[in-house]
Amino acid sequence: MTRGRFITFEGLDGSGKSTHLRECASRLRDSGLDVVATKEPGGTELGDAIRALFLDPRRVAIEGGVELLLVFASRRQHLIEVIDPALERGAWVLCDRFTDSTHAYQGAGRGVPRERIAAIDEAATGTRRPDRTLLFDLPAEVARGRGQSEKRRSAESFERGIDRIDREDLEFYRRVRQGYLELLSDEPERFVRIDSSGPVEQTRSAVRQALDRLLLEQAPATTTATDRSQGAP
Ligand code: TMP
Repeated sequence: MTRGRFITFEGLDGSGKSTHLRECASRLRDSGLDVVATKEPGGTELGDAIRALFLDPRRVAIEGGVELLLVFASRRQHLIEVIDPALERGAWVLCDRFTDSTHAYQGAGRGVPRERIAAIDEAATGTRRPDRTLLFDLPAEVARGRGQSEKRRSAESFERGIDRIDREDLEFYRRVRQGYLELLSDEPERFVRIDSSGPVEQTRSAVRQALDRLLLEQAPATTTATDRSQGAP
């Protein structure tokens, strides 16, 4: 059985990544593929409980290092329970956020040192990376306006209001965007930058082209988080 593909969708809140993830999932399903669409923090019962604590706007003071541990606890459970079993049976896993979010939000946004993130990443995931990452990029000012109005309309969000991370100021979001752009320049072969500052139709067409290219690529062999933590190379 060919191993599946692990594709992540990253970007600021309000970048449109979640909408495009849903559209990609249905396009891939229509072409007959087994697709798992999931998200972080969350994706499992434990992860959803962590997500609720993590985003609760009443918990205003969670230190960056504590945020780090929470998102990686959710991530390890997600890999073990959902992501790796799906990849092993040959499914495509489309994940809304993964470790790049931690580098951007806790690293660039909160100032948690890169080495500390790397140490926890190694323990939790074996420094696992997706096969490909679509980065939905746009200026923080534009994302802010869109993200908050979308969340206010969304039944999923807290009391139809903004969550704990949304409360951060524009400077925080500028640092997060900068963090993403640094990740992109560090690993240009993994990332596909999608300009999502324009009309949704334009972004949709860029996503379609990226997806077509992904469909033509050969699935690379990857090692699972559990293999690595058990001492596999
Ligand atoms: P979202 O599901 O609407 O994208 O919200 C998740 C929020 O959690 C978002 O503001 C980014 C934040 N987050 C982190 O700060 N670190 C992480 O590692 C992840 C996965 C998410």
